Amino acid sequence: MPLDIVVGAQWGDEGKGRVVDLLAARADFVARFNGGDNAGHTVTVAGQTFKLHLIPSGVIHPEPVGVIGNGVVLSPEILLQEMETLRAAGVVINPQRLRISHAAHLITPAHRALDKAQEAARGQAAIGTTLRGIGPAYTSKVTRHGIRAESMLDQEIFAEAIKTHVEEVNQQLIALYGAMPLDPTAVAAEYAGYAQQLAPYIGDVSSVLSCALGRGQRVLAEGAQGTLLDLDHGTYPFVTSSNPTAPGALVGLGLGVGCVGRIIGVTKAFQTRVGAGPFPTELFGETAGRLRGSGNNPWDEYGTTTGRPRRVGWLDLVLLRYAVRINGLTELVLTKLDILTGLHPLRLGIAYQRKGQPYLELPLGPGDLSGFEPVYENLPGWDEDVQAIRKLVDLPVGARAYIRKIEELCNVPVRLISVGPERDQVVEG
Ligand code: GDP
Ligand code: IMO
Ligand code: MG
Repeated sequence: MPLDIVVGAQWGDEGKGRVVDLLAARADFVARFNGGDNAGHTVTVAGQTFKLHLIPSGVIHPEPVGVIGNGVVLSPEILLQEMETLRAAGVVINPQRLRISHAAHLITPAHRALDKAQEAARGQAAIGTTLRGIGPAYTSKVTRHGIRAESMLDQEIFAEAIKTHVEEVNQQLIALYGAMPLDPTAVAAEYAGYAQQLAPYIGDVSSVLSCALGRGQRVLAEGAQGTLLDLDHGTYPFVTSSNPTAPGALVGLGLGVGCVGRIIGVTKAFQTRVGAGPFPTELFGETAGRLRGSGNNPWDEYGTTTGRPRRVGWLDLVLLRYAVRINGLTELVLTKLDILTGLHPLRLGIAYQRKGQPYLELPLGPGDLSGFEPVYENLPGWDEDVQAIRKLVDLPVGARAYIRKIEELCNVPVRLISVGPERDQVVEG
């Protein structure tokens, strides 16, 4: 059986958690492969809402085993809190149900302090990070100063590693940013407690997943963030520090390339972004307010992790086509179609123009979007509430035309359409 991969096709928050929960009903393993607790994945089942930051969204189902891969950066205290929250909600979390890669890197309070200091130092050029220490933790990893989960298995080595790490970061905090240093002994003592609790969960998940695939079991890979936040392929430097794109699933779980089945890109029916960076189809004013929502509904466009209002705009098909190419998407899932009800006309960004010249693709990818103006196609829209619809034929004509236009211009099928946050609020494409 193959590895199916779910990735965000935009700037994150596309509804990946909701889609993974749906697909996990038929999975044996659900595995996060990148990012850390910068992610916020929402799953709503029978009115109960779960906000997951590190634990894969599939664990709300009783069967699938959750896996945290080597590509993830892990805050032990956030993970332990999340385990408790899920247990309190009746979800079984134990070392049989959740496995953590020995090669996942740890995030420490020193990484978070550095994230905060670096963002402050950027001033006007701030990225708008989630301040979860993500960039500094991946920096530790690539500079080969990182602390891996496996070091939690030896208390003495771990305590020394944490102390040395905090001392090193303290030097940077003081010398480069004039920030307060942390107490290495206190951090080491705090982390010793986390290590004791997490040790039984740590193992070689690459081997576990390879064997499972070999036995014919189903593995679902859950991406965090989205294609346009990819460190290599996104709107650099306004990106995250990992590879949320589909090939990242293989590196981030320790799997070979031959096992891949479906590559599912999740996109909202419109565009959102949280944090700084270019956004050609961004909207302001009344239409933006309609897309964002007032904040009274749980699904309104306010960040799951940070609570920040999300920037909103029309769906950008130049960027979506790019996501299809970079990930090799075999299909799309379109979420939040219900939010477009009552908007007339609907606009799709189908191309760009710069200095009078049309562009269907960006010459240098999305890193340089300056000067590119979107070219729109208007569609009529619809007024019917679609949240209770479960069959494609029952969707309003305008909604079907909108979906067909996306398929036609992206050359990939829309296999699922989400019309509400609840598990069963979907239409097959
Ligand atoms: P993720 O990070 O990609 O998992 O997405 P988030 O959970 O951060 O944000 C998606 C939000 O949209 C959540 O509040 C979901 O409950 C909500 N959502 C997902 N699909 C739909 C949908 O089809 N309609 C509506 N109204 N809300 C949805
Ligand atoms: P999910 O998995 C939306 C954004 C931040 C910032 C940039 C870098 O829920 O889709 P970081 O803290 O990663 O160094 O911040 O990336 N960002 C996200 N935006 N959804 C996410 O995750 C995000 N994770 C990071 O807002 O612009
Ligand atoms: Mg999110």
